[in-house]
Amino acid sequence: MNIGIIGCGAISGIYLENLTKSRRVRVAAMADLDASRAKAAAAKYGGRALTVDELIDARDVDIVLNLTTPDAHESLARRAVEAGKHVYNEKPLCIDPAGARNLLELARRKGVRVGCAPDTVLGAGIQTSRKLVADGAIGKPVGGLAFMLCPGHESWHPDPAFYYKKGGGPVLDMGPYYITALVTILGPVAGVRSVARMTRPQRTITSAPRRGQTIDVEVATHCVGILEFASGASVSATLSFDVHRSRCANIEVWGTEGALAVPDPNGFGGPVSIFRPGDQDWSDAPLVDAPAHNARGFGVEDMAVAIAENRPHRASGALALHVLDVMTAMATGATAKIEPPQVI
Ligand SMILES: NC(=O)c1ccc[n+]([C@@H]2O[C@H](COP(=O)([O-])OP(=O)(O)OC[C@H]3O[C@@H](n4cnc5c(N)ncnc54)[C@H](O)[C@@H]3O)[C@@H](O)[C@H]2O)c1
Repeated sequence: MNIGIIGCGAISGIYLENLTKSRRVRVAAMADLDASRAKAAAAKYGGRALTVDELIDARDVDIVLNLTTPDAHESLARRAVEAGKHVYNEKPLCIDPAGARNLLELARRKGVRVGCAPDTVLGAGIQTSRKLVADGAIGKPVGGLAFMLCPGHESWHPDPAFYYKKGGGPVLDMGPYYITALVTILGPVAGVRSVARMTRPQRTITSAPRRGQTIDVEVATHCVGILEFASGASVSATLSFDVHRSRCANIEVWGTEGALAVPDPNGFGGPVSIFRPGDQDWSDAPLVDAPAHNARGFGVEDMAVAIAENRPHRASGALALHVLDVMTAMATGATAKIEPPQVI
C-alpha cells in the first residue's frame, strides 16, 4: 500500500521516521499548503513533493494520511474519499460530529476505509490495561479518573494558534488520547455531564518563532466531565490547558476486586500498575506484546494490512466518531446521552 501524506508540520517527522522504515507500507508522496515543507520532507525521506490536488489524484497513492491542522481534517478527507482513496486522519477525526458522520457515510458508499489517530491506544500500555480489565483482574469496573492537566501548548509548539481555535482546546486536542484509552479499556460511553470554562480570552505565545504574539481563544480551556459508560462504570475526567503543575494520575480504573493505574495514553508504553486486596502495594504488570516505543504510524500501517487482509482495521473512523461525540459534549459543558455504537 502506498501512502501520500498531506501536512508536513510538527507531527509529520515521527510518522515519516517510522513509515519510511516500514516493510508494510511505502511513503510515495507528500504535500503541504507550504510547498517548501513538502519539498524538505521529500528531500529528507524520499517520495515526491506534490501539490494537494496532485497528491489526491495520484494513481500511486492508496491511502491519504492527513496530518493537517483540525480545521482541514474534514474537507481534505472528503476530497480523498471522493477520489476513491482510503484516508487516515490525525485527531480529532473532524471538528463536528455531523461532518464526521457524513464522511463515514461517504466512505461507506465509496467502499474505502477511514482511520484516525490516536494509535497510542494500540501500544503496550493501553493494550495491557485493556486485557487486565477484560480478564477480570480488577473485578467489575466501578469507576475511575482521568487527568490531562498542562499549561497549554503555546510554550513549545512553533505555531500554536490552532490549539485555541474550534477543533482545539484540551478536550478535542488531548481528549482523543484519554477518551479513546478509556473506551478501549471500558467500552463505549452512554452519557456525559460536563462543566467547561474559558479561563483567559487571550494567550501569549512564548515559543519561537512567534514569541510575543497573542492568540484569541475560541474554545473552553478547562473542562470537568463525568463519563457514564454503557457498562455502568463512571469516570471523572478533567482536561485543562490552565494548570501549571499537578501530581494527579493520568488514568486510574477502579474495580470490585482491585485498581489499575494506567500509563500516559499519549505514549505507547507502560508501566501499568495493579493493586488487589491483600497486596502490600501496587505492582507493575507484565506488558503485552505491542509497541512500547514512539510507534506513531502503527495505526495507518495496521489499516493498510487490514485492507489487504480484508479485515477491520483497529484505529477506526467509527471509534473516532464515538470519541468525538463524547468530546463534543464534554467540551461544550453539556449533558448528553450518547448512542453507544455497536461496532466497538
Ligand atoms: N505537534 C504534536 O505534537 C502533535 C502530536 C499528535 C498529534 N498532532 C496532531 O497532528 C495534526 C497536525 O499537528 P502539527 O503539530 O503537525 O501542526 P503544524 O501546524 O505543525 O502542521 C500542520 C501542517 O499542515 C499544513 N496544512 C494545514 N492545512 C492544510 C491544507 N488545507 N492543505 C495542505 N496542508 C495544510 C500546514 O501548512 C502545516 O505544515 C493536528 O491534528 C494535531 O492535533 C500533533
